[in-house]
Amino acid sequence: MSGVARRPTSGDATASANRRWWDSEASSYYNEHGPFLGDDRFVWGPEGWTEAELDILEARPTHTVLEVGAGGAQCSRWLAGEIGCRVVATDLSAGMLGTARRIDRSLGRALPLAQCDATRLPFPDAVFDRVFTAYGAVPFVADTARLMREMARVTVPGGRVVYSTSHPWRWAFPDDPGEAGLTVRQSYFDERPYLELDDDDRPVYVEHHRTLEHRVAEAVSAGLVIEAVRELPWKDATTSTWGGWSPSRGRLIPGTLVLVARRS
Ligand SMILES: C[S@@+](CC[C@H](N)C(=O)[O-])C[C@H]1O[C@@H](n2cnc3c(N)ncnc32)[C@H](O)[C@@H]1O
Repeated sequence: MSGVARRPTSGDATASANRRWWDSEASSYYNEHGPFLGDDRFVWGPEGWTEAELDILEARPTHTVLEVGAGGAQCSRWLAGEIGCRVVATDLSAGMLGTARRIDRSLGRALPLAQCDATRLPFPDAVFDRVFTAYGAVPFVADTARLMREMARVTVPGGRVVYSTSHPWRWAFPDDPGEAGLTVRQSYFDERPYLELDDDDRPVYVEHHRTLEHRVAEAVSAGLVIEAVRELPWKDATTSTWGGWSPSRGRLIPGTLVLVARRS
């Protein structure tokens, strides 16, 4: 990386930068965050809350479930093993799915995995009872309105769509786990994406921001009925820091947004 910028970039440039980035970082990401995530746990974000504690998806053994941006598919593995759902775990990155396969082999498991961009899901309409992601795809996609339409399209009427992502409010603060991360330094309303750039000024990593108003509007326009907007508080038992997410900041400002919706 040779620099960072906030400037508009296309959906294609976003997807190709992020595919390469997650491919090349897959092993180091797993080494750094694997112990926190667990190979067979479902963690919603750096605060440490698990689906076993929150039951946000309300997944039941009869359900067919799609995970987008699954990474090492830890959440799907927990849903299949603990709840007994039929799951499909998908991700843009072959490297991250390679991690999922390695974990599966080490546990003697074999989850169904598929490589795809979450904005172009290779599934028919209305086939999944639950469609979700824990920090996958949503922050890494330029056209999040399309992502919401795709997640809604493959969900059965009455089925549930849930995602967690960085709380939009965090975009107003520096990405710093300490004191410096508690002072507003940029406009919350500035939706230009965050880019990391190579020596030729090409994006190598991209994250996209939407205000809470726009996140809600995109879900509603996709035909989703919002049932809850959760702002996860910091969990006392979580003492670890993940990038800009730390116990000291997490106790003062929300770090993770969970949007819970029903397909109409
Ligand atoms: C922070 S990880 C989240 C996965 C897992 N829940 C975890 O906590 O490790 C983000 C994942 O989103 C995936 N991703 C990024 N852009 C995507 C897209 N357009 N479609 C599907 N997955 C995408 C990345 O490849 C990566 O595996």
